[in-house]
Amino acid sequence: MKNFKGRDIIDIKDLSKEEILYILQKARKFDPEFTKSDRSNYEIAQGKIAALLFFEPSTRTQQSFSSAAQKIGMGLIGFNDPELTSIHKGESFADTIRIMMAYADVMIIRHPEAGSAQKAADVADIPVINAGDGSNSHPSQTLLDLYTILKVFKKLDNFKIAFVGDPLHYRTFHGQFSALSKFSGNKFYGISPKGLEMPEEFRDSSYQDVVIDMKDVDKTLADLKPDIVSAGRIPKEYMTGDIGKCNYQITNKTLEGLPEHSIIMHPLPRVDEINPEVDASPKAIYFKQARNGLYVREALLALVLGRINNK
Ligand code: NCD
Repeated sequence: MKNFKGRDIIDIKDLSKEEILYILQKARKFDPEFTKSDRSNYEIAQGKIAALLFFEPSTRTQQSFSSAAQKIGMGLIGFNDPELTSIHKGESFADTIRIMMAYADVMIIRHPEAGSAQKAADVADIPVINAGDGSNSHPSQTLLDLYTILKVFKKLDNFKIAFVGDPLHYRTFHGQFSALSKFSGNKFYGISPKGLEMPEEFRDSSYQDVVIDMKDVDKTLADLKPDIVSAGRIPKEYMTGDIGKCNYQITNKTLEGLPEHSIIMHPLPRVDEINPEVDASPKAIYFKQARNGLYVREALLALVLGRINNK
């Protein structure tokens, strides 16, 4: 029995392997690739309200949570510019949470500070879903990443996974490591310039740094032969120092050195990390990945509201 009703989803580390698989299995109910009609989904959470509190920019996470909530019948409240709320007048974070929880049944929060989602959950008596807290965690992103891998490979174990970019700050990599290291045989390689290696708390003996000059990313990937290339944006908002040394680009030439079955993932937004010429390759699954976020978030909302069976 996995009861998610009323539960906060703050950090992917808090979910067991079985719980992760359970959520991914529920997401299939909302995915037209597995379930034909979504007409009845509208009744799942009719009359319930989702509050979206976005203290940091977002396109996919915010819009897909909004779409997911409406697809299961929910209404929406919230903001994406805290300056247009009473925070501008000096209202505290805790009071803002207290007020929003009075109007909603579930709260989805993105905030630049690590630990902020937990702070919200400590105050709120409705389920809180972390939609990204600084460089810490973004559990629904991790779940949709795993859902995407599962759809492509029909498994979540025994992969060689290359993180390309900034493993020190990038929450996507932190989440993917935390979740995929729960499955056996996965090996992780953090391809980055010196100084941006994965923090201790997000690594174990299955993780290896591959410190390079980012101009050599093609050769490094060709030598490594990963099954999954997990590419990332350079998160300038969290970085200090020489940002230029992080720049890299995956092009059609990069693909030539990769194994036939390999895939390129990216949570998006991309800036220059993946040349748009790569989009036409069957290896490029980032737009499908973004779409999968919708199904995973429908499942997550329905589960924390106790509106789909929790068995
Ligand atoms: C990511 C995030 O915000 O963590 N975007 C997203 O949610 N799809 C990645 C990023 O900001 O680069």
